[in-house]
Amino acid sequence: MKKLIWTDNLDTGIQVIDRQHGRIVDYINRLYDAQTGGASKDELRMIIDELVDYTFTHFAFEETMMEDVDYPLLNAHKEMHGEFARQVNELRRRFENHEDTAVELNNLMVTWLFNHILNEDVRYVKAVLGR
Ligand SMILES: [Fe+2]
Repeated sequence: MKKLIWTDNLDTGIQVIDRQHGRIVDYINRLYDAQTGGASKDELRMIIDELVDYTFTHFAFEETMMEDVDYPLLNAHKEMHGEFARQVNELRRRFENHEDTAVELNNLMVTWLFNHILNEDVRYVKAVLGR
């Protein structure tokens, strides 16, 4: 269970993407604060729903953007989003089944997000910005 701190090397240079990534980080940190602050299950559920929904909306946005520029690694990138979405949905399902998966979800998001931004998202920047 960790909080995330944004560092400049995470900026892709595509403003709209950086804003969206920043918002995902805010949700992850909100989940951390709620979990460590003893929030109720309903409060945790609200934050988890927002975090997950927003993350999936962001994936869809990214995929459309990559499609628009005929990004050659689009399918591989989509598969990574899909695989991550499956893991997140599984944690959400278990949460609904009265398991406390908030910590697992935080850990998954924390390990995945920065890694994905630094290793995968940076690859489409050239195609999107045309340089
Ligand atoms: Fe991505």
